[in-house]
Amino acid sequence: MSSIVSDEIAEYQGKIRSLLKERNAILLAHNYQRDEIQEVADIAGDSLELSRKAAETDADVIVFCGVHFMAESAAILSPQKTVLLPRMEAGCPMADMITPEKLRRKREELGPDVPVVTYVNSSAAVKAESDICCTSANAVAVVESLSADRVFMTPDQNLAKYVARFTKKRVDYWKGFCPTHHLLKPSQVLAARAALPDAKVVAHPECPPEIIDMADHVTSTSGMYRYATESGAKRFIIATESGIMYRLRKENPDKEFLHVSADMICPNMKVTSIEDVYDALLEMKEVITVPEDIRVRAKVTLERMLAIPRG
Ligand code: 13P
Ligand code: SF4
Repeated sequence: MSSIVSDEIAEYQGKIRSLLKERNAILLAHNYQRDEIQEVADIAGDSLELSRKAAETDADVIVFCGVHFMAESAAILSPQKTVLLPRMEAGCPMADMITPEKLRRKREELGPDVPVVTYVNSSAAVKAESDICCTSANAVAVVESLSADRVFMTPDQNLAKYVARFTKKRVDYWKGFCPTHHLLKPSQVLAARAALPDAKVVAHPECPPEIIDMADHVTSTSGMYRYATESGAKRFIIATESGIMYRLRKENPDKEFLHVSADMICPNMKVTSIEDVYDALLEMKEVITVPEDIRVRAKVTLERMLAIPRG
């Protein structure tokens, strides 16, 4: 990065901080966001931490740097606040793999005794058709909190298969997936292992089962920060989106981190630039709203999840 670009970024970061103050706004960024956005954010976190913050903050405005479903969750939880998503096209292909109509049909097939557990990576309308939400950080606890002995998870098949390893309940699932994680191959993990011997392999539960089998530790994005800091190990191979690498290295200068594959980049998470964040705050755009009938039902599913004690 040239010093001109760095100066430009620093200038945007300064202007963003002043506008945040002026508007009584908070900037929430997902751990996959660009480095300079994570740096200027009030909080950079995983989906669970960001939902909790969105529910608790007393700011008037929430600027959400992440993808659409995340900003939508903030709008569901805090309808009295203005929620801004700097780039409207920042979507999530996995969230788009299920629709409320498809889920309603599935529910008819399943009958009333099978609760639907929906990953937060889903639209508000799909959440509204569900019983409870989960994130990668609490999916096992959410499923275990239910009295039913069978559950249906949507939209991520890999998260469902991961949860099934830790529960006696029958776990059926929708066959959605995150393209960024689903396409990772065992051969890529083996190649990384050869390049960084003795490293701990840390994987996100959106990875397919054959990758989970190879991992030393499986956790959410923020769980990866905690593991890297707390573990006595010195070398790590990281199997998730590239945005996580910056803070892992910054917070652990004495440790070595290898990103498992240069292909693991989510284009949607990278679409937002620092300039977009500034423009969003300056022009108060794009405002995310959810139709009230959907919002009220989706809020129940998110609040049930948030009521589950932190693991
Ligand atoms: P977490 O940060 O909650 O682990 O989620 C990862 C993700 O894919 C968000 O899009
Ligand atoms: Fe969706 Fe995967 Fe991108 Fe997360 S990383 S936003 S799950 S496509």
